[in-house]
Formats: sequence, C-alpha cells, structure tokens
Amino acid sequence: MKHLLTDFDWTEGELKALLQKAATVKAKPADYAQALAGKSVAMIFEKPSLRTRVTFELGAQQLGAFVVYLDQNHGALGKREPVGDFAQNLSCWVDCIVARTFSQTTIDELADKGSVSVINALSDRYHPCQALADMLSLYEVFGKLEGVKLAYVGDGNNVTQSLMILSKLLGVEMVIITPKGCEPAADIVEATGFTVTDDLAALEGVDAIYTDTWVSMGDDKDPEEVLRTFLPYQVNSEMMKKSGAKAFMHCLPAYRGKEVTTEVLEGPQSIVLRQAENRLHVQKAVYLKLLKED
Ligand code: CP
Ligand code: NVA
Repeated sequence: MKHLLTDFDWTEGELKALLQKAATVKAKPADYAQALAGKSVAMIFEKPSLRTRVTFELGAQQLGAFVVYLDQNHGALGKREPVGDFAQNLSCWVDCIVARTFSQTTIDELADKGSVSVINALSDRYHPCQALADMLSLYEVFGKLEGVKLAYVGDGNNVTQSLMILSKLLGVEMVIITPKGCEPAADIVEATGFTVTDDLAALEGVDAIYTDTWVSMGDDKDPEEVLRTFLPYQVNSEMMKKSGAKAFMHCLPAYRGKEVTTEVLEGPQSIVLRQAENRLHVQKAVYLKLLKED
C-alpha cells in the first residue's frame, strides 16, 4: 500500500522523480487525460480549503478519475461513525482517500484501518502536498534546489515542518526564524538539523523568504497576543531588501498587513500564484505515483 501521510514517507529519489513527473504533467497535461480512467477518489475535509480542494478534485478529473467530495454533513469523521469505519467503508468503493484533518492521528488511522491509498491534504503536523508544490516552484525560479537558501519567518507550523523535511531531503538550505515559543516541533528540528532562531539577522543572504498565517486553522490564540508576538516578524519591503531575497513565498491564504504587507504579497518578487498553480500539477503527480501501476 502506498500513501502520502507525512513528508518522511518518500525517499529523496522518489521525491525527485515526483517533481520531474509534475513538471512533465504541467508541460503536457493532455497526455495524462485518461491516465487514471476508472479510478475513484473520496475527499474528506474537516477544515475549509480553496487551493487544496480545487486542485485535488480537478486534478483527479483531469486524469480521468471519479471524485466524491464529502462535506462535514456527510464526512464528519468520528461523529456518525468512527474513523476506522469510514476508512473500511470507503475502501470498498474508492482507490484513494484525500483527507484534511485537525489531527495527524486521524490521517494515520484512515491509512491503518482502510485498505486504499491515503493522501494527507493538511493536518496539524504536516502539509506535504503544499511543500512539494513549493519545491517545484523553487526549482522553476532558481533552476536548482541543491544549495538554495530558504528562510521561513513567522509561526513554526504544519507548513514549516513539511518544508523543513523536504528541504532536508532535497538539499535546500533552510533557516527558520520564529518568535520564542513558536518554534516548529522539536523532533523535526532535530531530524533536519536546521537552525531555528528568533534573530532576524539570520535572514541576511537568503534567496527566498517564506511566511504563513500566524494563526493556523484549529489554533486557539489571543489575537492581541498574536499581534504583539509576531508583528516584528512581518515580511515587508524593508525585510525583503535587507535580506537580499529574490523571491517571496506563501502557501495562502495570506492575511495582508499581518504576516505580510500587500506591497510584498503583490510585488514583483512574489511567487505565490506560481505556488498555487503548481499545487494542481503536483497533486496529479501524487495521484499517478499512488494509483497508477507502471
Ligand atoms: N495552501 C492551501 O492549502 O490552501 P487551502 O487551505 O485553500 O487549501
Ligand atoms: N498553517 C495553515 C496553512 C493553511 C493552508 C493552517 O494550518 O491553517
């Protein structure tokens, strides 16, 4: 059984092949129009989504697969029936479950109890498909991944953690700059060995700056405390200029005037829409890897 539950699931070689496949699918989408004909995908989202939902749904359709989207009326995991029952029933009908959940343990349980491929479409710990699209975007902009210097500024969260793991595997040199107490999970810091600091001086000489919301879905934070803690870490024109970064990245949705200014988000260095577009091509490559027997 092949899954994408965390960024640790695939080897460096598999990741490179996947990014290559995404680039090929992006260049010649029509060649893959029937690649997954007859396959079926169920999507369960416990939290809102624009990019992930649209790209997984459209991506499957553009490969010739059927898709069923379960909203929270019909897909409320663990409410009408346990997570394991969802997994076992869906496994009778579909080839793949795409799940966005509050807890990573829910995704792991879907994989454990079901008998079909499970794809993590974001959990509290990881956002692997986002990080894959980000790696493709970095590659397109810098012509390489090895040695590219990527700074993540802001809240150490699911997006940060996935970026750290994939960066480590693919040779991107990351530095993570967060306020004290907002660092990414200790096990991921240890596994990747990247520098984590609260000192913005670490931004000097980076190629790209990445940020994300200061309040992730499911977080329960005091808004005033959030502003006080994070405002010095806002990505603005001065920060971009001082660092020398050539690219600005964000997984979106972005909160203008909070983690990033409008000027940077909509400025010439911003590659956020390239990242969003690449979500589609990467989701297709993920489906092909998991569902197409070569
Ligand atoms: N970046 C991202 O995952 O966006 P959505 O929450 O809209 O899917
Ligand atoms: N860290 C954010 C990412 C949204 C795509 C969240 O989990 O809400």
